[in-house]
Amino acid sequence: MQIEMQKLFDIVKEGGALFRNREEAARIRVKGLSDYVTEVDFHVQELIRTRLVQEWPQVQLMGEEKDNSEIDFSKAVWILDPVDGTTNLIHDFRQSAVSLALYDGGKPVCGVIYQPYTEELFHAVPCARGGRSKGECGAFLNGKPIHVSNAKTMGESLISIGTAPYEHEYADRNFDLFKRIFLDCQDIRRLGSAAVDLAYVACGRTDAFFEMNLKPWDFAAGRILVEEAGGTVTDFAGNSPDFRKKGSILGSNGKIGELLVERYMNF
Ligand code: IPD
Ligand code: CA
Ligand code: CA
Repeated sequence: MQIEMQKLFDIVKEGGALFRNREEAARIRVKGLSDYVTEVDFHVQELIRTRLVQEWPQVQLMGEEKDNSEIDFSKAVWILDPVDGTTNLIHDFRQSAVSLALYDGGKPVCGVIYQPYTEELFHAVPCARGGRSKGECGAFLNGKPIHVSNAKTMGESLISIGTAPYEHEYADRNFDLFKRIFLDCQDIRRLGSAAVDLAYVACGRTDAFFEMNLKPWDFAAGRILVEEAGGTVTDFAGNSPDFRKKGSILGSNGKIGELLVERYMNF
């Protein structure tokens, strides 16, 4: 299956434009511990769902704010996080993104992450699938090819962390890990959007990002971006993650991911 990417860009930009509605962002519902959803999340999902159905009626949608129990992953499926970084959105912290990926028959077809505040649109189309000419496949930021960093040592690395904010039972383990890594790298960052974190690894702004127990919509698009930008995405043991399931995610330029698994993540 091939997608006319410009159509997808227009759709995610239309969704991202809704982030600026501060009244809707203030209409908040609590989903669980530290876990919120706003009217913006629902509005963005509904708009994108409608547009996707108009263009590609045969493709299923897995979305954070809907029931996904009927999804058949052996067929084509969009994986959408309408607002990745809802807590940031509530605080007008300006680090949130629309994240949308397409998988077909278990294989990635394309991924898009749109950051409306900076108007940065990241996208990736896997080259491995063939049939695409040079310049059409790979990873891009606003249409220009991007690549992961060249960092080879912890001492030259800037590393982004995710705190698994909805699962405080892992806080001791997580913060111990953050401390050990912090002491060896240049510094750590906590952006508050896993999609943006992975997009930043893909374009070399950071050298690695990791977080326990992410959901498919948090990493589905970012994973394609990092891999097409020359990096790797694994779980904390260095194995390939399952895009259909919740799991721990480590995206990196490759080398720094290897170091993190070897030296810090062998709990
Ligand atoms: C969250 C963000 C956050 C990460 C959480 C995610 P949401 O997504 O990506 O950075 O720490 O694990 O659930 O809830 O804002 O879509
Ligand atoms: Ca998310
Ligand atoms: Ca979300």
